[in-house]
Parts: sequence; structure tokens; C-alpha cells
Amino acid sequence: MSNTTGMANLNLTGDDGTVPTEDEVNPWEVHASSATGVDYDKLIKRFGSSPIDSALLSKFETALGQPPHFLLRRGIVFSHRDMDQILALHSQGKPFFLYTGRGPSSEAMHMGHVIPFLFTKWLQEAFNVPLVIQMTDDEKFLWKDISLETARSYTTENAKDIIALGFDPERTFIFSDLDYIGSSPEFYRNMCRVQKAVTFNQAKGIFGFTESDCIGKISFPAIQAAPSFSSSFPQIFNSRSDIPCLIPCAIDQDPYFRMTRDVAPRIGCPKPALLHSTFFPALQGCQTKMSASDANSSVFLTDTPKAVKDKINKYAFSGGGATVEEHKKNGGNCDIDVSYQYLRFFLDDDQRLEKIRQDYSSGELLTGYLKKELIELLQAFLKSHQEKRKAVTNEVVKQFMTPRKLKFDY
Ligand code: TYM
Repeated sequence: MSNTTGMANLNLTGDDGTVPTEDEVNPWEVHASSATGVDYDKLIKRFGSSPIDSALLSKFETALGQPPHFLLRRGIVFSHRDMDQILALHSQGKPFFLYTGRGPSSEAMHMGHVIPFLFTKWLQEAFNVPLVIQMTDDEKFLWKDISLETARSYTTENAKDIIALGFDPERTFIFSDLDYIGSSPEFYRNMCRVQKAVTFNQAKGIFGFTESDCIGKISFPAIQAAPSFSSSFPQIFNSRSDIPCLIPCAIDQDPYFRMTRDVAPRIGCPKPALLHSTFFPALQGCQTKMSASDANSSVFLTDTPKAVKDKINKYAFSGGGATVEEHKKNGGNCDIDVSYQYLRFFLDDDQRLEKIRQDYSSGELLTGYLKKELIELLQAFLKSHQEKRKAVTNEVVKQFMTPRKLKFDY
């Protein structure tokens, strides 16, 4: 059931205990009613965003002089708000900036969290624009049973993983809410403006807050909204408030930005544009997203080669037949096969992926082969990531997290 704001019901089961027939997608819960995962076409309609179609992909290609990233081409980044306007600005040589974030709920991030950051990195390089990354340690303190100190320490650990993905310190500012907000009057003023523009009723409608939620949660959306406005970072944007923002994220974060877009014109700021990705599924299947709160549903950036192998072999849901004979006869179902779905997110070779799809669907390839392919790919990714992360010292983190001018002039 969704309410008038398009926000899905927060309960997983209905009053009668039955599983709801509509997908749940909000910042705290993702659950699909079908084994093939969330119905993203329906979600676009419910949320009121726009699909990324071939016309928009061509505009990307024209604007950049290179094919769009494979996550765009494969429909993994599938929905947007006002991306055409950002592309138009870019072709006129006008500036915009990127904003994304992470809620540091634990020391280790999982492979699903990596997706928006890898995509953001590509956007930053392709468009050559500044990037701000918000670490919402305050959010995790409010929502989880952890202390402020623990939340702040997770920020540093997660920032190391984010930096290890290869962001450029001259173009990237990473900030902890707990540290930056107290030092930036402009950021705080934007928070106040947003807080004044949204009523408790609206916040309840968008986020499903109840009377028993602490008041910190109720005002938190203003904190996630504030980085969408360039005036929150006067040191980067020379105090300009008119530089538009583009936010890459998975679609669970959209409620925050529906609210932000509604408020923006009322406080004299441009509405942020968005690029939404689908969810990297849990190992157990496409009905839920990979989530850090369930260790067996996730491959973590800290996992050893053996852990990756064991988790994939033991838990990765198979779309193959029950027996080899049945599989050879009927073929495998790539739409529900988790190993195939993971390869779509991480195997950049289109031809190889298509060959795997055909051969698995025809029954020629068995699930074991797909799993082996995936295990090797993830082990190589994690080995390289873990080496790069070791090189990210506290000094490097400090460099990224110091409020400063970046290499752009305004
Ligand atoms: P968090 O830490 O839950 O998630 C960080 C980013 O990862 C995306 N994400 C996923 N993407 C694909 N598959 C998954 N299984 C998956 N799980 C999470 C999220 O959509 C997000 O892009 N409140 C936010 C932090 C935040 C933020 C932002 C995120 C602050 N400002 C601006 C995006 C944009 C949070 O807790 O994200």
C-alpha cells in the first residue's frame, strides 16, 4: 500500500499477516513481492521519476563523446530526475556538482554500497566536476544502537574504502556531519531553511515517522537535503547559491530528494537532479537488497577470498534447474539467478556477459560455472581493493575531509 506521497508502507506484512503484493522501497527497507525483484517500471510511476531511455543515453554519448557507463547501458542506473537539464548545462559549458553519501552503520561496507560510488567516480571523471560526499554518522547515531564516537569512527573507516575506489582529492570533499555541520554556518542555515519549509505531517507522509520516533529522526531529512545546495559549501563554490547539483544514489534514497526538490524553489535554490540505480540483490535472491545488517546476505569489502568463495557457493540463489538433466532441458533463469545478476553489475565486458546469458539460458552452462566465474571476479576486485585501501592512511583521509577550495574556480 502506498500513501499519497508515493511512499511505500513500512510494514513487511499486512494487518492480516499476509505478505503485501506491492514492493517496499524506502531508505530503511527494500522488499519485492516477486522473485525477479522490485518492479522498477512501477516504481518510476509511483515515485514520479523518469525512465532512462535510449534518447537520454544518446544525449549522454553526445555530451561526453564516449559511450555511457555500462551501468547506464544495462539499465542498472534506470531512472532520473532532470538529467536532461544537467546534460544541457554541460554542453553550454555551465557548471554543476555531484553529491552522494554513505550512512556509516558499520566498519565494513558491502558490494552493494560500492555501486553508486563507482558510478559517481565515472561521472566525476567524465564531466570533470566537484564532488561532495556526505557521511551521515549523525543519522546512524539516531537510528542505530551506537554511540556518537562509534558512528564517527565508522566514518573514517568507510571513508578509507570510498577513497580507495580512486577519487581525486583535488576534486572531492568528504565530510562527517558530526564534524562539518558545527563548523559551517552556511550549511546550518540551509538546514534551518529546510526545517522551516517541511511540516511534521509532510515528514510523516514521506518517511513514515510515528509519534514515538525521536525528534532527531524527524529533523534529519533537512541534514541530508542541505548538501544539495551549493551555498552549503562556500569554500568550494565561492559562496554561490546557484550551482545545480546532480545526485547519484540507489532509488531507496529518493524520498529525501523528493522532499528536497519540493523545498528548493521555496528557499531560492535550484532543484537537485538525480540518477537512480536499482539494488544489488542479497545473496539469497532478488527479493531484498544486499544489506549490512545480515552478514550472510552480503559480500563485504573486508571478506577474504575463502569467505567470498564459501558465501557464493553456499548462499547465492540459483536460477538453474533442480537436476543437471532438468537444467540441460529447460535452461537456467538469469532473471532470478543471483550469480548472473552480480555479473551484470561487475563484469564490464558486454560480449562476454551476453555469451554467459545465452549459454546459461540454453542450459549449456551450469550454475557451478556461473558461480566460479563470479567468485574469481569478486576475489580479484577485493584483492585489488584491499591493497589500495591499505595505502589510504589517516593523513590521506584528513586531506579529503578538510574543508577547502577544490581545483575549480567560480
Ligand atoms: P547507505 O549507507 O545506506 O548507502 C550508501 C549508498 O549505497 C546505496 N545502496 C545500494 N546500492 C545498490 N545496491 C544496494 N544493495 C544498496 N544498498 C545501499 C544507497 O542508495 C546509497 O546511494 N542516508 C544515506 C547516506 C546519504 C546519501 C546522500 C546517499 C547521505 N546523503 C546522498 C546517497 C545520496 C545512507 O544511509 O546510505
